[in-house]
Amino acid sequence: MIYKQKLKMLIGILIVLLISGCQSDISTNEENNNQDSIRIAILIYRFDDEFVSYVMEEIEKERELLDDLSNKQLVVDFIDGNNQSDLQLDQIKDSIENKYDVLAINLVDRSQAARVIDMAKNADIPIVFFNREPVQVDMARWDKIYYVGSKGEDAGRIQGEIIAETWNNNPRIDKNKDGILQYIMIQGQQGHQDALLRTEWSVKAIEANGIKVEQLVSDTANWQRQEAKEKMLNYLNVFSEEIEFIISNNDMMALGAVDAMKELEFEEYIPIVGVDAIDIAVNALERGELTGTVYNDHVKQGQMVIRMAYYLAINEDPKDYIDSIENGKYYRVEYQKVIKK
Ligand code: GAL
Ligand code: CA
Repeated sequence: MIYKQKLKMLIGILIVLLISGCQSDISTNEENNNQDSIRIAILIYRFDDEFVSYVMEEIEKERELLDDLSNKQLVVDFIDGNNQSDLQLDQIKDSIENKYDVLAINLVDRSQAARVIDMAKNADIPIVFFNREPVQVDMARWDKIYYVGSKGEDAGRIQGEIIAETWNNNPRIDKNKDGILQYIMIQGQQGHQDALLRTEWSVKAIEANGIKVEQLVSDTANWQRQEAKEKMLNYLNVFSEEIEFIISNNDMMALGAVDAMKELEFEEYIPIVGVDAIDIAVNALERGELTGTVYNDHVKQGQMVIRMAYYLAINEDPKDYIDSIENGKYYRVEYQKVIKK
């Protein structure tokens, strides 16, 4: 199914590129004759984020493909924001001064979007935001801004379904036999749309399945494995037998919880769910250390970021080439449930 889609997309883009190849030839004669390369700056919130590094790999793969098909050289520079918003704002300023054709931005702090958009607008450099979504009012500031990401609440909803099924099929999970599911929530970075939406919708989906819940604690570990491990070492001691489920906003933090259980030689079985379906999490799932995760389509997200940026760079409207762009600006990929085969 995924392969079929891929093939369809590949054929689609080949056709599109043949057409856009001709069109950009025309514009080359008109205005761009001194420009034989397209330059795109990719500003990343931090290189050492596991999931984002998957997206980066996909961007690079797609760059090679587009580069082969295009009559111009396609240059992509990845810039590490080191999780520091001020540093990233400087990097964005520099990229604008350096006259990149397009900026693709994975914001450190999405509340800075308005500032960033205004800077780019003044220089007439389009932006493709991804993974960290500016709020709607910011997205409305200019028409040459786009967003590529996933459908936030769906990940939570799918987690909730996995949890409800697990609970219904395994009565022993209700350790204290009170008919209520006691859980710990490990959240991603505060203010991140995925942290907010996954947290909210996972619980809503469990309740929608007729299951009563009680939150023991909800805490953030900033998407990080080590931070989650440290927090869970503490919570496993504090709540011990009371914990019946661990819900994590992503896989890395879910794996941090597994690390903590291993370190404490925690005997009780506690089901854990994550999001992303990165390789190490799928392996942990096969070993029975995780109960479920949700595939966060890094392939499509990476491809769409660079394709949109590419069309904008050659002065084409991405909407003419890419289907299902919502409200003229948003491309959202679907999540998929992943449980042990
Ligand atoms: C989420 C992803 C997390 C983390 C975060 C970074 O979509 O699930 O693992 O990578 O983005 O912004
Ligand atoms: Ca219970």
